[in-house]
Amino acid sequence: MIPRVQLVAHRGASALRPEHTLAAFELALEQGADALECDVRLTSDGHLVCVHDRTVNRTTGSTGVVSELTLAQLSELDFGGERGVVTLRTLVELALDHKAGLFIETKHPVRFAGQVETKLVALLEEHGLTDQQAKDDSPVVMMSFSTRAVRRMRTLAPSVPTVLLIDRMWPWLRAGAQPAFADYTGPGLSLVRSDPGYVARAAAAGHGTYVWTVDDPEDIRFCRDIGVRWLATNDPAAARTALA
Ligand code: G3P
Ligand code: CA
Repeated sequence: MIPRVQLVAHRGASALRPEHTLAAFELALEQGADALECDVRLTSDGHLVCVHDRTVNRTTGSTGVVSELTLAQLSELDFGGERGVVTLRTLVELALDHKAGLFIETKHPVRFAGQVETKLVALLEEHGLTDQQAKDDSPVVMMSFSTRAVRRMRTLAPSVPTVLLIDRMWPWLRAGAQPAFADYTGPGLSLVRSDPGYVARAAAAGHGTYVWTVDDPEDIRFCRDIGVRWLATNDPAAARTALA
């Protein structure tokens, strides 16, 4: 039986709540999202926090580079009506409490000499998330656009599934090859729209596909019909309706 497409709330239910806030993640869980997606950056004092951009300028009323701010400083900022940044620790515990999946994307992978991936894996170890027998049993998936970061995560935690995110169709992917160091690939919607056979080729090579970021009902049904396994969406409830 083909598994049904799983809905991953991109930055939480970010169409309806400010992205990466607890309100966005909690709403996604209320909506029945299968998993949450978050981006992760390092603060100047070594904490992993859920922020997409390099700076806080777009998502708060303030300015500053995330990696130059302490967790205490970030905790004072207003993220779209919510005081303080969501730490990855908080989000892992929220996802576990709700038995939901968590797709964690590391940003700035080539800076900080691998500290982001090292701290991420240490946090997962602390929560008993690095010793599952089968990858399909893992509630957590680690992702990056950087091959270097994905290789590093694979080496540090071989039992945790990895996604290599892709924003261009490399010739070797088009030819049917898949990365040996990642369990799955994550093309953007435009890539699978321009190459709908990609998902079947990946499946033939034993790789599931995670597609981002899909909100249009017709695109959602297209992804389901070509066999996409995980679909990142900003509005899980609307996506569920589109699939009904
Ligand atoms: O889920 C992957 C997707 O989030 C990648 O793009 O810029 O939203 O992190 P971005
Ligand atoms: Ca992301």
